[in-house]
Amino acid sequence: MVDPRVLSTSSAAPESPAPRARLDAPVLEARGLEVWADGTPILRGVDFAVPRGSVVCVTGPSGVGKSTLLRCLNRLVELVPGLRAKGEIRLEGASIHDVDADGLRERIGMLFQQPVLFPGSIRDNVLFAARRLRRASKAEWDARVRAVLSEVGLWDEVGRRLGKPASVLSVGQQQRLCLARVLLLEPEVVLMDEPTSALDPESQAVIERLIRSRRDRQSFVVVTHDLAQARRIADAAVCLSLRDGVGELAPCADPHPSLQDPACRDVVADAADD
Ligand SMILES: Nc1ncnc2c1ncn2[C@@H]1O[C@H](COP(=O)(O)OP(=O)(O)OP(=O)(O)O)[C@@H](O)[C@H]1O
Ligand SMILES: [Mg+2]
Repeated sequence: MVDPRVLSTSSAAPESPAPRARLDAPVLEARGLEVWADGTPILRGVDFAVPRGSVVCVTGPSGVGKSTLLRCLNRLVELVPGLRAKGEIRLEGASIHDVDADGLRERIGMLFQQPVLFPGSIRDNVLFAARRLRRASKAEWDARVRAVLSEVGLWDEVGRRLGKPASVLSVGQQQRLCLARVLLLEPEVVLMDEPTSALDPESQAVIERLIRSRRDRQSFVVVTHDLAQARRIADAAVCLSLRDGVGELAPCADPHPSLQDPACRDVVADAADD
């Protein structure tokens, strides 16, 4: 195995030549991932693989490090003061340091736990990243906006007021708008941090169907507290649990047995109490 590298060092020299991706190899893989916050360990020894075209759910108690894990996978951790990460993360077999961070985040899109809106209209917010990266006519953008808002189940709610400020939307609508913005970029991997936490059952079902149906073109890592949801959408699941105050991962190829793993016992018990 290649020596672990400090993820927060963006100046790390690229390895050459970049390994060629195998079709049966995981699209995204982390080995020996460790994270510290202000010198205190919060994640330890995380080995994690996302098979191509799969949905991997990450579950575990609040504060165990799920969001931090996602932030490592697209190098957002480097932008958080006080956080330091170490370990090896590979996208398509190549170190995530072999591409620039912005390029990496185009390939690994992220839906945050809290919706992030920019000042401007609903339409501007959907197009925020895509319009800076790609060229298309207004008619093409209009068609893409309509398609992606329909896909996330938002078109009927906002299609007639795309010019209104995005800030008028409900939290659940904002969550779906942010997902539309991510999907418009067609990233290879989509990281989702509790994507349906603010949604009603109907909208939640739309998003779950969307995730399952897009596996032919994308792979997903989905953080969820909802074990029933993990059982519905996951091809594989991993559970983070605290040991000596530090988050560790219990990986398993099958979502259902893994969610019954002793490491997940507390989470399962909590869910059963709901
Ligand atoms: N920038 C930071 N500085 C200091 N501590 C941090 C920072 N970011 C995260 N932590 C700590 O790391 C731990 C993991 O946080 P994280 O947000 O990843 O948890 P989580 O599993 O996503 O929780 P939740 O389910 O509540 O969203 C927490 O104890 C948190 O306080
Ligand atoms: Mg979180």
